[in-house]
Amino acid sequence: MQLRGESLYSSPPAGIATNPDTRPAMRIDELIPEERAVYATLKPERLPQHVAIIMDGNGRWAGRRSLKRFLGHQQGAKAVQYVTETAARIGLPWLTLYAFSLENNLRRPRAEVGFLMRLLKTYLDDNIARMMKNNIRLRCIGRTHDLPPDVQAKMREVEEATSRNTGTTLTLALNYGARSELVDAFRGLAEEVCGKHLNPERITEEDIHRHLYTAHMPDPDLLIRTSGELRVSNFLLWQIAYTEIFVTERFWPDFRGIHLLEAIADFQRRERRYGAIGEDGGEVEENPERIKIAVS
Ligand code: FPP
Repeated sequence: MQLRGESLYSSPPAGIATNPDTRPAMRIDELIPEERAVYATLKPERLPQHVAIIMDGNGRWAGRRSLKRFLGHQQGAKAVQYVTETAARIGLPWLTLYAFSLENNLRRPRAEVGFLMRLLKTYLDDNIARMMKNNIRLRCIGRTHDLPPDVQAKMREVEEATSRNTGTTLTLALNYGARSELVDAFRGLAEEVCGKHLNPERITEEDIHRHLYTAHMPDPDLLIRTSGELRVSNFLLWQIAYTEIFVTERFWPDFRGIHLLEAIADFQRRERRYGAIGEDGGEVEENPERIKIAVS
């Protein structure tokens, strides 16, 4: 009998990459003992390719401790480092973090936005050596051209310095909004149509995919949100069509590698069906008379 969760990878639709050959090398011996204990419960052949995280709760973490919000963000940056390094050790190919949304940029006080920008720059400066040591490749997505020039320059510097690394790709979504990503994608498609390179009648999902900021990566298998909110907050709306969602009450500054591994363990217990019928879906009734009896 097929147990629930055993058929994690029923056929994904075309375009969903699950090629295990591209998985970076693992360094399991470098996990801390608590992480190693959770890792031992995982099925290595069913690790996700791509985990995306909505990092939420920095402000509430600080508030609970009667601290200023910026200290929550500072601890949040530490959590980014810990979680990314655990991801690198288990050979996770893609980790995407929602670090700063378009809405954060427009709606937060200027002082907080300024602090987040300085924190990001310091983080990149302080972590470049660790990224090299951990074979991590940095990418940034979003309307990054609207960020302060010094932050953009630092991002480009670290992206360039880490571009030849072959381990986990850490993607930071910065000044990012999924709807504006779709607007940008549609503008790109419209240009192709106007230039007569694309027939509107023949536009496919693949054409939209290749204009997204994430065209080079598979869609997330798992989306984690911290701090208990049940929202997707304009994050990767196109890409999460078939993504499993895991919400934890834990605030982001308290989130560590072990919690990433626990979320992956939960993910491995699920059955992904991509709109099909599960392994234990039972017989399909083909006699219309019997269906009438069943519903009457
Ligand atoms: C949500 O907390 C988080 C953010 C606004 C952005 C995430 C930023 C970090 C983790 C720090 C820096 C990141 C990097 C990559 C160095 P919130 O302020 O919305 O929390 P709240 O909902 O409790 O107020």
